[in-house]
Amino acid sequence: MKAIILSGGKGTRLRPLTYTGAKQLVPVANKPILWYGIEAIAATGITDIGIIISPETGAEVKAKTGDGDHFGANITYILQESPAGLAHAVKIARPFLGDSPFVMYLGDNLIQNELGEFLNHFKTEQMDSLILLRPVANPSAFGVAQVDDQGRVVQLVEKPKVPASNLALVGIYFFANTIHASIDRIQPSARGELEITDAIQDLINQQKHVEARQIEGWWLDTGKKDDLLEANQIILDTCLKTEISGELDAKSQTFGRVQIGTGSKLINCTVRGPVVIGNDCHLENCFIGPYSSIADQVTLVDVDLEHSVILKGAQVIGIHQRIVDSVIGQRAHLKTAPQRPKALRFMIGDDSQIELA
Ligand code: G1P
Repeated sequence: MKAIILSGGKGTRLRPLTYTGAKQLVPVANKPILWYGIEAIAATGITDIGIIISPETGAEVKAKTGDGDHFGANITYILQESPAGLAHAVKIARPFLGDSPFVMYLGDNLIQNELGEFLNHFKTEQMDSLILLRPVANPSAFGVAQVDDQGRVVQLVEKPKVPASNLALVGIYFFANTIHASIDRIQPSARGELEITDAIQDLINQQKHVEARQIEGWWLDTGKKDDLLEANQIILDTCLKTEISGELDAKSQTFGRVQIGTGSKLINCTVRGPVVIGNDCHLENCFIGPYSSIADQVTLVDVDLEHSVILKGAQVIGIHQRIVDSVIGQRAHLKTAPQRPKALRFMIGDDSQIELA
């Protein structure tokens, strides 16, 4: 059994963060989203993992993630020259996959369930494909499945205008080598991509053994800001352990589960967990509220923050209003300036979103 993880795509819904980096490397609780997928796969015992990368962000994904040693796996990087669809990604991964069955994992997806139980079911029943489904409020944004009374998949449609059900295809799939023939048979969709949804539909048309499992736990597709904040909240809630390596002065205190990395200094701060603070941060006169993730080398002075994600090297200084539900990009500066006239002065990147109180 092998695995491929898709880590290409343009990440348009996470702009401006994705102008300068891969969406799969945006951190959730200070760890790249992609790494959760690698860990989930490695936890099933699969060690041969192919990561599909794009020309734009491939080098960064590779540099950060490495050869797999860190995860107890062997990682092979496979370049997809253009974003021609999920089924196209499988096509170019064929030399890596050979005739092995495989898991395909979209690198910006996270699920609560462990993969092992699905993998065993897929193997024991010798399926051609096992797909995972979850009810959603906006099925038109996903691949949608119609399932009969016995739980058999009748039809799959990619982003239907009029969805036949509220069951979305989760971005984690199990395939036998029979998927390759189906991929060879399908045509590009209206958005010009070879859709994996169409290839699975082809398996169904060929009377192959396709089953669907509904997942009960949470599923996060971290492609948008609010989803990213929700993922951050859930991961901090479920996974964070207290570990304080940084320095707190006598006037600083923490409540609940809080992690503070080495080289970080907190002066006159209150931190109410779950909160993770990376390495080499400087925090002074701050209140850091629940569900905040602060990456390495961040400076926060005179700030009240809650339910937010601050990326590496950002500086937030002297903002005398509470900051909530925010994502602040790498090296971004947000501060009050003493000069007159008293005014707001901006240098805001393309596609940024600012909401002033
Ligand atoms: C892709 C799949 C879609 C699936 C979704 C899950 O959509 O095409 O069927 O429901 O991932 O995240 P995309 O992210 O390419 O819009």
